[in-house]
Amino acid sequence: MAETVTLQVDGKEYHLPLVQGTEGERAIDITRLRAETGLITLDPGYANTGSCESAITYIDGEQGILRYRGIPIEQFENHPNFVEVAWLLIFGKLPDQQEYARFSEALTNTANIDESMKHNFQGFPRSAPPMAILSAMINALSCFHPEFRKVDDPDQLEAVAARLISKIRTIAAYAYRRSRGKPVMYPDPKLRYVTNFLHMMFSQPYEEYICDDITQDALNLLLILHADHEQNCSTSTVRMVGSSQANLFTSCASGVSALWGPLHGGANVQVIDMLKHIHEGQMTPEEYVRRAKEKTSGERLMGFGHRVYKNFDPRAVVLQRTAERLFRKMNKHDPLLDIARKLEEIALADSYFVERKLYPNVDFYSGVILRAIGIPVNMFTVIFAIGRLPGWIAHWAEQNASSTARISRPRQIYTGNPETRYVSLLKG
Ligand code: SDX
Repeated sequence: MAETVTLQVDGKEYHLPLVQGTEGERAIDITRLRAETGLITLDPGYANTGSCESAITYIDGEQGILRYRGIPIEQFENHPNFVEVAWLLIFGKLPDQQEYARFSEALTNTANIDESMKHNFQGFPRSAPPMAILSAMINALSCFHPEFRKVDDPDQLEAVAARLISKIRTIAAYAYRRSRGKPVMYPDPKLRYVTNFLHMMFSQPYEEYICDDITQDALNLLLILHADHEQNCSTSTVRMVGSSQANLFTSCASGVSALWGPLHGGANVQVIDMLKHIHEGQMTPEEYVRRAKEKTSGERLMGFGHRVYKNFDPRAVVLQRTAERLFRKMNKHDPLLDIARKLEEIALADSYFVERKLYPNVDFYSGVILRAIGIPVNMFTVIFAIGRLPGWIAHWAEQNASSTARISRPRQIYTGNPETRYVSLLKG
């Protein structure tokens, strides 16, 4: 018999079942709440509301734990392979040699986009934000792959996932090349996932970009750390859109749109702007932290705080280590990293941040790593989207495979006018 909680409404008692997860987290199942009590719940931002049961990613915000299909993300640090982790998230287990070879071959063979899609990039102004192009062009893929617009064929999942994970690189690189007025560089079938992307970004017709192992490992790890994060804003958006049985392309295009926001994936750009602001002497780290604490300033310490983590974001810990290692191996120094460390030191000694349990999140150190690799700031959130795509696909597929999946349609509490008569103010 399921454990229950008792709700008392107008003197009547209702018993609502409790649901328990793998790690002991518990939820009140309110599926029958309105039918039995006439009441709904109200939870702006869904801070206390579970939208689904999922087996993909586990986060313990208090302990600073993040696991992909049970594997702690720290365990990917010394052997980062984004394609392997993408398979793990989507199919629920690590790929064996044959699965990995088949998936890698599909990624290589489907990296090109239709030539007529290439001309679409000319339709955007050179100043177009790459995230706008990315969302539009991922949606456009559904026009070129009608065979993959079905949502109820699990046998198609491997093929459509490979196409999307492969082509997002090409679209991203072409958006970058367009913004710089450069000719596109076609994918090179000899190159692996990350190096092929960097080739399409930075090679010239007269000069091949050579990706060293340090850069390849750093970008593989950065993509892995962004690959999934349970029901974050963009993943919940993908689930919401996918719940209407919209195809994978358009569902992921909506994820790109949600990720673009400065409070979500757009924060990595805001962090670099903040660090540059300080580096250019317009403000000291201490002054910036002080402004971030003032509600009236409209400023926040970008890259700090998290809806779920009330401890260090484990990704920030790994990314900080990665940044230090990368600069050491590259024999480089970035003053912005020093400023980031200084801001972290000041904030973590300040009761405002400590009381609110505000710690560095995934965006706080990712930007300095991307800068070291040579990725321009306007592509930072695009890199986040490339990383998060396997997570979006995994959640879209998990929802479609669920026997209890329903179209998402939240309720509301109405606070508008009472019934009012229609009296037009228009003449004639
Ligand atoms: C991502 O959900 C995910 O998993 C997201 C993500 C993923 O992988 O998908 O982890 C990726 O989006 C990371 C977050 C990136 N965004 C930022 O770094 C922007 C800066 N951070 C904040 O805007 C904020 O912390 C959020 C948006 C991340 C979380 O917002 P919440 O949970 O709604 O927190 P809140 O706004 O209710 O803040 C609680 C208090 C408030 O103060 P009080 O009203 O209690 O006095 O903390 C304050 C806030 O003003 N606060 C901050 C702050 N973050 C929260 N104050 C200063 N600087 C900050 N960064």
